[in-house]
Amino acid sequence: MSTTALKVRELPVEQQIRIQPQSGYTGALVTGVNLTKPLSTDQIATIRGALNKWGVVYFRDQHLNHAQHIAFGRQFGDVTPGHPYEGDGAPTGFPEIHTVSPDAYRKRYGEHYRKQEGSNGPGWHADVTPLINPPAYSILRAETVPDFSGDTHFTNVAAAYRGLSRPVRDLIDHLRAEHRFGSSQSAERSNEKIGEWVRNKPLASIHPVVRLHPDTGEKVIYVNPSFTRQIVGVSPRESRHILDLLFEHLANPVYTDRFRWEPGSIAFWDNRAVLHLAPRDFEHLDVQRILHRITLVGDIPIGPDGLRSTSIEGEPFLAA
Ligand code: SIN
Repeated sequence: MSTTALKVRELPVEQQIRIQPQSGYTGALVTGVNLTKPLSTDQIATIRGALNKWGVVYFRDQHLNHAQHIAFGRQFGDVTPGHPYEGDGAPTGFPEIHTVSPDAYRKRYGEHYRKQEGSNGPGWHADVTPLINPPAYSILRAETVPDFSGDTHFTNVAAAYRGLSRPVRDLIDHLRAEHRFGSSQSAERSNEKIGEWVRNKPLASIHPVVRLHPDTGEKVIYVNPSFTRQIVGVSPRESRHILDLLFEHLANPVYTDRFRWEPGSIAFWDNRAVLHLAPRDFEHLDVQRILHRITLVGDIPIGPDGLRSTSIEGEPFLAA
């Protein structure tokens, strides 16, 4: 018997790490770990394994402060600044923290930006894909959440790729697409803060429509309705039809999971394996929803043809 197995057997049951899948393809609950403390090598390997299989892992009752949140993330990679468009919005002393709340978004982007539905419909996305090296992982922790509403949805882009027919997979394996912050031209024309950001600090890259996951080697669909503006090298009409087909397919409930937040909950996802959808169902309620996110430095995507993404505008997003 291995020393690991012996050690696990000696631990009380509530301290043994367990992975409980939450849906057929996406999301697993991790129990038996205390994220305020450094993790063991075995615990890190177990969490990485669960991320590779389920795309996103969830934790409950982990009441981390900003420093503990960043320390937890550093065990899995280098932590980036909170967001390329953070401005001075990060909490004092913690440039790595990106606060997610209606108030924080209003300050960062302007009054109306988040309230408009994007031209591609609901805003499924991986974080900041207009960057040449979009964040590999995101770790979101709940501070204040409503008693009901405000759930986050995830969808598994490797399973979604496998769910396409062979001819469509063959077609998209060879395509590339432009990802741009402010994927609709209205953001560029806006006289709110978002307009200033995208005009003064534009972010755009060309990524393969299918990328190889750097750890699992799986092919994943790598377009999203929030940031993908167009497929390159095809007509605008062809681009529209191909993207609509993929956006609709990615949102098929077959591939999704829905996470109910509680104070102290954490969702830790792989932006190369899942897209997520921030909730809009609490905005008309008189409730507070405040979460904090960090992201870990990502790699430059590589397509099935071995070609890397190329930058149009913007710098690589490196450690804070
Ligand atoms: C995000 O897009 O990172 C935020 C997700 C959420 O608000 O649930």
